[in-house]
Amino acid sequence: MASSRLKYLSLGVLVFQTTSLVLTMRYSRTLQAEGPRYLASSAVVVAEVMKIFTCVLLVFKDHNYSMRALNSVLRQEIAHKPIETLKLAIPSGIYTLQNNLLYVALSNLDAATYQVTYQLKILTTALFSVSMLGRRLGVFQWLSLLILMAGVALVQWPSDSAPVPEKEALSAGSQFVGVTAVLVACCSSGFAGVYFEKILKESKQSVWVRNIQLGMFGLVFGLFGMLAYDGERVKESGMFQGYNTVTWTVVALQALGGLVIAAVIKYADNILKGFATSLSIILSTLISYFWLQDFQPTGVFFLGAILVIMATFLYGYEGKPPPNPSRA
Ligand code: C5P
Repeated sequence: MASSRLKYLSLGVLVFQTTSLVLTMRYSRTLQAEGPRYLASSAVVVAEVMKIFTCVLLVFKDHNYSMRALNSVLRQEIAHKPIETLKLAIPSGIYTLQNNLLYVALSNLDAATYQVTYQLKILTTALFSVSMLGRRLGVFQWLSLLILMAGVALVQWPSDSAPVPEKEALSAGSQFVGVTAVLVACCSSGFAGVYFEKILKESKQSVWVRNIQLGMFGLVFGLFGMLAYDGERVKESGMFQGYNTVTWTVVALQALGGLVIAAVIKYADNILKGFATSLSIILSTLISYFWLQDFQPTGVFFLGAILVIMATFLYGYEGKPPPNPSRA
């Protein structure tokens, strides 16, 4: 009962977090910024630090605010179990690679193609859940995943009134590089998410300790990335150049995202995470329309939204009728 409450709570917080992140990012783009823009590579590092810090606080709370207990848990579970800790280097490394691939993709594709193609991760996640976790999906569930994918793709379809790409048409070669990068990112997203889910569900280890392990590697990879891409700029103006209140909000929401995704993977699963993020895309688009007035929903958008909502109900539908007798 309690875990079912946590499942819906974590999914609800994910919808809230994704929606506010999209809106804040959109808002930050409409702001007239003075001075240098903040470095994206620095934002990644700061978000990792925030995540680790919050997870340490959560472990501290779980041990009745005892410094001694915290110290011993961190030492026993992280320092004294190097193999267990190293296991988290895999999803962490893959996520770092993924973030870079998405950057390559965005530089070679228009935003709409990128966003629409990236929805294939809904299917790769399902395929990895079946092959790595032995999860069984019924016909309705596979169907609902296809509908979900199509729905999110339509929701993100550019409207006719959208301005023609400002750059000259992207070359076929660059399209190919972009699409390949997104397809690899779809596989890495599915694999890393399901791998983390497997680690979480196979051991009794607290999700927050696991997240500290993940974050430690993320921090190391992120620091390398920052020095490699922006080393010169960091030396010149520091890693916090261009930070303002909105930047801090975006970074905090990104850190919160990592924490909520971990909770969703623990209490629900990666497939449900796909539904939560799809619903939040619709929600943020609608809020953006009513509040920021920077978006004009089209018929295609509404069709996509209806498909996403239908898929969500269809996915939950099969679990309720006659229980599967062969279920272990
Ligand atoms: O697109 P996708 O859903 O795969 O993105 C997941 C994101 O969540 C990645 O950017 C990854 O860094 C982040 N994440 C995290 N902590 C976790 C799991 C994922 O920060 N425990």
